[in-house]
Amino acid sequence: MEFEALQQACLTCQKCDLCRTRTHVVFGSGSPRAEVMFIGEGPGRNEDEQGLPFVGRSGQLLDQYLAAIHLDRQRDIFITNIVKCRPPENRDPLPNEWDACMPYLREQFRLIRPKIVVCLGRIAAQRLIRPDFSVMKEHGQWTEKAGTFFTATLHPAALLRNPGNKPLAYGDYVALREKIRQVCTHTYPEQRGGATE
Ligand code: URA
Repeated sequence: MEFEALQQACLTCQKCDLCRTRTHVVFGSGSPRAEVMFIGEGPGRNEDEQGLPFVGRSGQLLDQYLAAIHLDRQRDIFITNIVKCRPPENRDPLPNEWDACMPYLREQFRLIRPKIVVCLGRIAAQRLIRPDFSVMKEHGQWTEKAGTFFTATLHPAALLRNPGNKPLAYGDYVALREKIRQVCTHTYPEQRGGATE
């Protein structure tokens, strides 16, 4: 219920100027009981139109990586962004925009209590792991903060621009699968007492 109330508040948010140009707020999608959260930068055009995260071409690529490690985006994870409204022309979010939006992400963390957070790309990694985080140098590395494991991988949109980097990202997802097996309790079927994959 608290989660739905948060979603309702977010969907009518007017805390920054992005509310003037958005079509839909993109609160996030997936399971509020997920042990793994994926955090992108902000909605693009398709996401703004549909009100859902990662539904454009980068979302299709993300789905391929998720499928490779047997994660279902509705059942097994929660996906959201640093800012919930589309920055015009896909520019980076401005500091005042992410400051205004951060309380929603903080509340999402508080209610979902993920064991693992995967930052998709530089903006999320620098905001959530370290301001000088280098995705190219440090992707796939793990940082523990207050019992939650944080990592970052290359943003799927960056992989569409530089397909030669796809194997680097694949390695990060394989490492994620191992981390899930180590620290999660109900993400994979065998952890829920179901059949092994
Ligand atoms: N890129 C992002 O960072 N987030 C989305 O939701 C879509 C594209």
